[in-house]
Amino acid sequence: TRTQVGIVGAGPAGLMLSHLLSLNGIDSVVIDNRTRVEIGKTVRAGILEADSARLLADTGVSDRVLREGHPHEGIDLRFGGESHRVDFRALVGESVWLYPQTDVFVDLANARERDGGDVRFGVSDTSVDVSGPAIRFTDSDGIAQEVRCDLLVGADGSRSICRAEVPEALRRHSSREYPFAWFGIITEAPRSAPELVYAHSPRGFALISQRTETHQRMYFQCSPETDAAAWSDDRIWEELQARVAGPDGFALKEGPITEKTVLRFRSFVAEPMRHGNLLLAGDAAHTVPPTGAKGLNLALADVSVLSEVIERALLKNDPDALDAYGPRALDRVWKAQHFSYWMTTMLHSLPAATDFDVRRQLSELASVVGSEAGSRYLAEGYTGCWPA
Ligand code: DHB
Repeated sequence: TRTQVGIVGAGPAGLMLSHLLSLNGIDSVVIDNRTRVEIGKTVRAGILEADSARLLADTGVSDRVLREGHPHEGIDLRFGGESHRVDFRALVGESVWLYPQTDVFVDLANARERDGGDVRFGVSDTSVDVSGPAIRFTDSDGIAQEVRCDLLVGADGSRSICRAEVPEALRRHSSREYPFAWFGIITEAPRSAPELVYAHSPRGFALISQRTETHQRMYFQCSPETDAAAWSDDRIWEELQARVAGPDGFALKEGPITEKTVLRFRSFVAEPMRHGNLLLAGDAAHTVPPTGAKGLNLALADVSVLSEVIERALLKNDPDALDAYGPRALDRVWKAQHFSYWMTTMLHSLPAATDFDVRRQLSELASVVGSEAGSRYLAEGYTGCWPA
């Protein structure tokens, strides 16, 4: 097969790029070693920046996000057992959308199918040749395939094989580890609060999120060695309740827990995001810790810049246009890296924290909610409305 853009990875980054390119008449082939069902079952984050929701609706992927998603105009920061609302609408004139990443994937996969996009799920033995460039793999019928292309895009997630093709001498990997992880659950219960609650507590961080009228998503900080299966529902509820408890009597509405997983936690950036005809997008180029739900939003922001520069390179015969991709994307990537790191360190308990560390953290939270400048700073980061 011959195509203009070969894309490794059919998650939201790869599929959205393929969709945006097709709007400009640029062909692409997308491959993924996972099946469509497998990707559709992976539970990921649930918050879209308004720009991400608009990108899905305005480019014709689907308006389901606007019909079935829920606009959230703020969050609660909870510490010292009390909740403090940060009002995004009042502070930055923007909201975010509660709409699960799984649904973003379903919408994108359906849109590519509807528009005749070439997406091959469930392939194996994938390898890339950057000098070709070409992608080689065995398709789901067991037949060896080669896709030759003008540009190769690595949208293949945090364990990217494409990233490894940038020569060691030319690349710079920056990362940070955290001495904790998140225990994530789905429960069959009504909502416990109208908006998301980010809670700081002496027992560690907890996040009360939502999915639907009947199912909710919650997380609590845990040790990275935690075995999720070893935790009973009762023990999980006891821990979550303890972390949100306070003099206002706030308590979670409990129900059966249908999903228990421990999530990895890391900050990571691979630069440059372009090497010759190879371009990296989404988690292949960067990972954020989950606090603030920036991962998917960054992936969509990457590919909206990338589709623009590819269009200039391929349709307007301006190969230098590709030079602008890395610098433009990385500006946002590093803002989101800082935001995710900041929210994480402000809200989590460090295993070696001293009394000073905890008191300082509580004072930082008090400054953020007590100062309009502080609250607006958080609102800008959370909604992704950073000043240019
Ligand atoms: C969700 C996950 C996050 O990391 C976050 O900051 C907010 C919401 C979620 O899964 O709903």
